[in-house]
Amino acid sequence: MKMKLAIVIVILFLLLLSFYGTYYLINPDLRGKEILNNQGIPYPAVIAHRGASDKAPESTAEAYIKARDLGVDYLEADLQRTKDGKIVIFHDQTLERTSNVEKVFPRRKEDKLASFTYAELKKLDFGSWFNESSPRYGSKKYEGLGIITLEELIEIAQGGQHTPGLILETKKPEKYPGIEEEIVDILEEEGWLKRDEEREFAKTIFFSFREESLERFKELVPQAPRLLLITDNMITRRSWDHWLERADGLADGLGTKGFMSWPWYIAKAHDQGLFVFPYTINRLWQIKILAYFHSSGYITDRPDIVLDFFDRMLELPIINDG
Ligand code: G3P
Ligand code: CA
Repeated sequence: MKMKLAIVIVILFLLLLSFYGTYYLINPDLRGKEILNNQGIPYPAVIAHRGASDKAPESTAEAYIKARDLGVDYLEADLQRTKDGKIVIFHDQTLERTSNVEKVFPRRKEDKLASFTYAELKKLDFGSWFNESSPRYGSKKYEGLGIITLEELIEIAQGGQHTPGLILETKKPEKYPGIEEEIVDILEEEGWLKRDEEREFAKTIFFSFREESLERFKELVPQAPRLLLITDNMITRRSWDHWLERADGLADGLGTKGFMSWPWYIAKAHDQGLFVFPYTINRLWQIKILAYFHSSGYITDRPDIVLDFFDRMLELPIINDG
């Protein structure tokens, strides 16, 4: 009996899916482009998640330089603060996964990044782990790569023939009171809060899973676009409508897991003037499906395949870096 009920539910679900899927395939929602362009964001936006992190160690200078030189629209970075107040680019709370902390500070290997000073973090190698976990793309030049600061990320963005924007995420901002002001001060100093008028380009976008952090950015820099990030357990616990309501007046867009970026969800967001950036889109089939539905953006570890798909890869002269 239970089995029969499950089959009926699955069939109903598939019917519904094919109805909606077919509807949006025939009738794709094309409003994303206009919504993005009004914000000064290129369409579709290609965003390098932690840099070109499939081909170089995530969040390092090498990953960001690679992404910049491929021609991405934005470099994505997670921001945290060291014990002595430097804003650095790093995703995890602890250092174990992507550094040799166990070797350098064996007794502190499980400690949070926030308990290390900048000078201590500079002693660590954030590149060699990648050579072991991705031998195919590993390289001798990744050995010994250091952590980078927000100022260094800005320098990288500005240092090539193509200048991508920055999409900056506050990681666990509740642990770093006042981090938003510090980030804004650095960006202000470097001239990264103003739109690039010539390109009509929003150079900096802020995003976070924490509404309080976006609220603070809204107060500090109302002109910069903001995205509310949503993860799978957030969408399973609350409805899409709930998150649209939460984003109303707070954010200009939503960042959603790829598998839940349904076209009918996106259309509802568009009704409200919000854009949607799915993450993390690393497979060609995902790009193809999202492109069918005219996705506004692609947050990806593999910007090379996304740019190639859209025939937007930059053809920069090859520099022999040894
Ligand atoms: O791209 C969205 C994403 O950055 C949020 O997840 O864990 O990769 O920072 P995470
Ligand atoms: Ca992130």
